[in-house]
Amino acid sequence: MKFEKGWRLGSMGDMQILPGSRHRPPMKKPTWIIVLVLLVCVFLICAYMYPPQSSSACYIFSSRGCKHFANWLPPVPAREYTDDEIASRVVIKDILNSPPVVSRKSKIAFMFLSPGSLPLERLWDSFFQGHEGKFSVYVHASKHKPFHVSRYFVNRDIRSDQVIWGKISMVDAERRILANALQDPDNQHFVLLSDSCVPLYHFDYIYTYLMHTNISYVDCFKDPGPHGNGRYSERMLPEVEAKDFRKGAQWFSMKRQHAIIVMADHLYYSKFRAYCQPGFEGRNCIADEHYLPTFFQIVDPGGIANWSVTHVDWSERKWHPKSYRAEDVTYQLLKNITSVDVSVHVTSDEKKEVQSWPCLWNGMQKPCYLFARKFTPETLDTLLHIFSNYSAP
Ligand SMILES: *[C@@H]1O[C@H](CO)[C@@H](O)[C@H](O)[C@H]1NC(C)=O
Ligand SMILES: *[C@@H]1O[C@H](CO)[C@@H](O)[C@H](O)[C@H]1NC(C)=O
Ligand SMILES: *[C@@H]1O[C@H](CO)[C@@H](O)[C@H](O)[C@H]1NC(C)=O
Ligand SMILES: *[C@@H]1O[C@H](CO)[C@@H](O)[C@H](O)[C@H]1NC(C)=O
Repeated sequence: MKFEKGWRLGSMGDMQILPGSRHRPPMKKPTWIIVLVLLVCVFLICAYMYPPQSSSACYIFSSRGCKHFANWLPPVPAREYTDDEIASRVVIKDILNSPPVVSRKSKIAFMFLSPGSLPLERLWDSFFQGHEGKFSVYVHASKHKPFHVSRYFVNRDIRSDQVIWGKISMVDAERRILANALQDPDNQHFVLLSDSCVPLYHFDYIYTYLMHTNISYVDCFKDPGPHGNGRYSERMLPEVEAKDFRKGAQWFSMKRQHAIIVMADHLYYSKFRAYCQPGFEGRNCIADEHYLPTFFQIVDPGGIANWSVTHVDWSERKWHPKSYRAEDVTYQLLKNITSVDVSVHVTSDEKKEVQSWPCLWNGMQKPCYLFARKFTPETLDTLLHIFSNYSAP
């Protein structure tokens, strides 16, 4: 319709202008008008066939046109929040809106989840050396009481409990170590690490990277495949809808406000405790891979980076990521990991869709990773030998 209307306008214009232009250089002005009218027509046709995706684009067109486009989309049913949900949201909103408490002695809490002793403790010892007062260490040992070789780790064990891989006890360990670390009001950023993690930079670089940004590094992406939304159970309704279900690696780094809302959450946590378990209703739901990504997707999606600052190599596409042996650890390997500045996720359905986005730090593209796993105990000597070399940015 717009097409025809445009043409009619164009031909009327021709008729009015042609008589007057007889004595002028032939056809100059009318040609311009025809071209202009044609361009307008093409624009209108395009706008009609490819409706604007964002609401801001609607300003270009009439509001009536936008309403027309909106009618093409399925209606979004408005859901009435439950009492628990209203209570939860009001508490979380208030915490997120309160200004962050800036402490003069801001520290980073390094929280280690480990079965027992930390095989790479001596590497962390040289990482922490000389930065006393800017960090605190917490160790959650789920199996054996650790034997510590570094003064930064002595007496830093918290009361711990057993952890069974894939079960909610992993999330419980995360919450337990967070609660312990929150007791120190100077801790402003909270990094979860494992016994196989290594630092990729010297202390100051990591401190600046984490302290001078207002987001948390929680891994989060939408995976429609069997290892993503295939693990979702409708028993989590109404609070946890399938559209909000997310996946991500458990190794987070979060700011204090976010650590507090995780402590304050009972509603979403209890849904995952009850309905996200290995083998529940035939699904292998791994609570630590879904609870935090989904929780942040619901309560503060803009407040997280959507990638983890801890690198791991899944390129072998096995059930577990690659473990580095002594012979794998070279200056080049570590430089390769630190050169990555795009975060990549691959869905687990047949499409194997690759989702990648630049790692933006306060709007600037920066290396994504500050830590890496999984380094076997035998890599310690090589790492100690090359640490001061590879850790320089
Ligand atoms: C972080 O700070 C920047 C500017 O300082 C602001 O534009 C942005 O909205 C903040 N983001 C969050 C999640 O608070
Ligand atoms: C993370 O993803 C959510 C959407 O899932 C988006 O709203 C948010 O802006 C993303 N975070 C950053 C820092 O880009
Ligand atoms: C580093 O990356 C380059 C280019 O991607 C690759 O060819 C090389 O094998 C990598 N080296 C190590 C030690 O991973
Ligand atoms: C680190 O070692 C590599 C090779 O061993 C060398 O090429 C590089 O210049 C060294 N870098 C620094 C910062 O010392």
